Amino acid sequence: MGRLEIRRASLNDLNDLTRLMREADERPYTTSDVQRILHNLNEDRFVAWIAYADSFPCGITMLERKTLRWRNCDLHSGFWVNLYVRPSMRQTRLFVKMVMTMFQAAPALGFDLLYAATRRSQVAEANIALGMTEVGRIPLYGCILRPGRLLAKYRRLGVYLRPICYIADCIYYPVVYLRDISWQHNATIAQCDWIDEGLHDVTTLRDYISRDCVYTPLNSQQYKDRFDVAPDRGYYELLTSRCNGTLRGAIAWRMAERGPSIRAGIVMDVVPSSEDFDHFKALFRTIHQRARNNGAEIVLALPGWGSSAETYLQELGYRRMPEQYVVMMRPIKNLPADFPVNDIRKWRYTFADNDAF
Ligand SMILES: CC(C)(COP(=O)(O)OP(=O)(O)OC[C@H]1O[C@@H](n2cnc3c(N)ncnc32)[C@H](O)[C@@H]1OP(=O)(O)O)[C@@H](O)C(=O)NCCC(=O)NCCS
Repeated sequence: MGRLEIRRASLNDLNDLTRLMREADERPYTTSDVQRILHNLNEDRFVAWIAYADSFPCGITMLERKTLRWRNCDLHSGFWVNLYVRPSMRQTRLFVKMVMTMFQAAPALGFDLLYAATRRSQVAEANIALGMTEVGRIPLYGCILRPGRLLAKYRRLGVYLRPICYIADCIYYPVVYLRDISWQHNATIAQCDWIDEGLHDVTTLRDYISRDCVYTPLNSQQYKDRFDVAPDRGYYELLTSRCNGTLRGAIAWRMAERGPSIRAGIVMDVVPSSEDFDHFKALFRTIHQRARNNGAEIVLALPGWGSSAETYLQELGYRRMPEQYVVMMRPIKNLPADFPVNDIRKWRYTFADNDAF
């Protein structure tokens, strides 16, 4: 390794950042995509570090500023994202040096704590070895909509086997459809525009149900901004369920491509009113319908929004996927004595926290 430099990144590094983020996410980002994703590298939103070896860009690591609320105490938090080291520079200690640079800078940048989540177990192990603490694990759940096509894509089956899989889907769907239309409920499901007054109801309910958890509070403007445009320019939909005009639940979701061209509906955020399973079920069924109409093979959800989340998903026919997300944190300053450092059940973590699925 030649001369190594790790420094704070600015918009002057935009071309290099774009190159590295394209490689890291395997997406054809433009510089304006990266500028948007990194919020113009405005220090109030994002802090980034970039590494150069002999003037060649070779690594990045970033902290997104977020607020984590725990029992009325708002903590300045850095959500660790966009960690990447170019293959030619792996296992050279560059990774360790970048992480240490970031950790050492965190107190002066005003952070109370850093946190992260990853589904790559090797990365979690490495981060823990470098000083993060495991908060806990959240398993990924999936509801299969087109089992045949999913299998064909996942196993990369040849053209001769594919028709058999597709015929299986043609049998599967009417069975599910008949089951769904025969189910009676009194929920009124509607799509909420991101400018709707209804958004305020959603964020108020979200605050209320999260009051005993560590979570990212978002007012209606922040909720709208969060779901404005996805990193890959995809869009999000917010569905609400009401009974006699009163909000009983809401779900934000989107379509995305995952793995070998697998089309997936992604449940981004779930805001259920307490134990109201019918509204929850009606919302999920609507999402399944919409995802199916958009060509989805599967719908994925991360049950990190409450203690009954996993049970509810299982009742809806979701199955545990092989992956799980490891949530980690590192205190930077003194945290409240009862802060749940090692208790994931007291954290609200969903894909709303990060579009990493
Ligand atoms: C993740 C990434 C940045 C790690 O960089 P790397 O150069 O491959 O890291 P290394 O394998 O050299 O590990 C560095 C140190 O981390 C620790 N470490 C790594 N893997 C570990 C493991 N499984 N268990 C414990 N410690 C581990 C060790 O301290 C190691 O130092 P050592 O070489 O003295 O043992 C890099 O692999 C990468 O960019 N991957 C693709 C993008 C990515 O996955 N980003 C994370 C998204 S969540």
